[in-house]
Amino acid sequence: MSAGMMRKATFQLISTFDRKAVPLLSGAIFRVPQHRCMHGDAEKKSSLGIAFTQKASNFDQARVLITGGLGQLGTGLAQVLRMEYGPQNVVLSDIVCPSRQVIETGPFLYADILDYNNLREIVVNERIGTIVHFSALLSAVGEQNVPLALKVNIEGLHNVLELAHRFNLRLFIPSTIGAFGPSSPRNPTPDVTIQRPETIYGVSKVHAELMGEYYHHRFGIDFRSLRLPGIISADTNPGGGTTDYAVQIFHDALTTGHHTCYLRPDTRLPMMYIHDCLRAIMEFLDIPEQSLRQRTYNIQAMSFTPAELTQEIQKVIPEFTISYSPDMRQQIADSWPQVLDDSNARQDWHWQHHYDLQQLVKVMLEKLAPKYKIPEKIVPDEHKVVATQRT
Ligand SMILES: NC(=O)c1ccc[n+]([C@@H]2O[C@H](COP(=O)([O-])OP(=O)(O)OC[C@H]3O[C@@H](n4cnc5c(N)ncnc54)[C@H](O)[C@@H]3O)[C@@H](O)[C@H]2O)c1
Repeated sequence: MSAGMMRKATFQLISTFDRKAVPLLSGAIFRVPQHRCMHGDAEKKSSLGIAFTQKASNFDQARVLITGGLGQLGTGLAQVLRMEYGPQNVVLSDIVCPSRQVIETGPFLYADILDYNNLREIVVNERIGTIVHFSALLSAVGEQNVPLALKVNIEGLHNVLELAHRFNLRLFIPSTIGAFGPSSPRNPTPDVTIQRPETIYGVSKVHAELMGEYYHHRFGIDFRSLRLPGIISADTNPGGGTTDYAVQIFHDALTTGHHTCYLRPDTRLPMMYIHDCLRAIMEFLDIPEQSLRQRTYNIQAMSFTPAELTQEIQKVIPEFTISYSPDMRQQIADSWPQVLDDSNARQDWHWQHHYDLQQLVKVMLEKLAPKYKIPEKIVPDEHKVVATQRT
């Protein structure tokens, strides 16, 4: 089976089966891509300054460490990576307590991104070949604690870059629409343009893009980054970003029937359903290096305003209402892209989104309704979405 077909099957399984079924299925599609198993030898200097050729790390790139893995994106990514690489080959890590489900579905380790020695120990002991670096303070939270954002987003980044350099690891670090600022073109925003963000989150992500690219051309590190839009998910909660309303609105629609939005009704931002996001990361990690013309790509699925999202929800729940009470996040949103130009990703590695606004609303309501014990009628049959219809 080709890699593409394998991934299609993976996403079909995840869409079709209950999350609990995933570990049972994992072994069935385990594979270790051959082209990733060895690295070249690298000349290193010992602590005494003596040059020696370090035996090429034969760490397997299919052994993945996810930092900050218990946030909105980490557990979902672990789930899909484990289906592709095998449950034991993907190590989730974070500084917060894992749930029983996390512990039961694969390896989890405590890893503070600020503790370089501990990270190094994990990389060596677990024979890690790829780091997916998710630890970060997001835009709104970062503005509330700038010193901590500096530490986690910048010192933490330096630690993973150094590990990637030292152990010849493949490194994926997501960037964000927040890496642009008010002087960037906003509709559409190209890959290469002015980047003068006005949040510490944005500044730290531009730093990550540039440092990753520097380590790539200076030391040959296989660094890759995707600028993600706001990610919308039903299974996990967002971590304090400016696009969080687009998740909370669904919970409110199914519970109180009213949402108070911290953005103005006409605030257009790029968004993406989590399945598309996780699939994009998987596909992007699998692309042979020679197919990549750049190391950092925009990806985009849809762009909408709170008013447009409300209209779409009201097609399913007509009594749903919204009011607006903009706060400091409005200023952040006003400085961000409205639409990302992701034509390079579409051309170079055939990136395609599967969920548009209409499908997003359907799948979110469908997934959240049982959580609130809402009868099936909330999501009538004609509104049901089968994520795997589009491949
Ligand atoms: N979720 C989105 O909409 C979105 C959009 C664009 C980019 N991203 C990027 O994707 C990545 C993951 O995002 P997310 O939404 O899962 O974030 P999140 O805020 O939900 O999770 C971040 C995790 O980092 C952990 N963390 C904080 N300090 C740490 C430390 N010192 N050591 C180790 N871990 C620490 C937190 O405990 C948390 O679990 C981030 O880098 C974020 O910038 C996310």
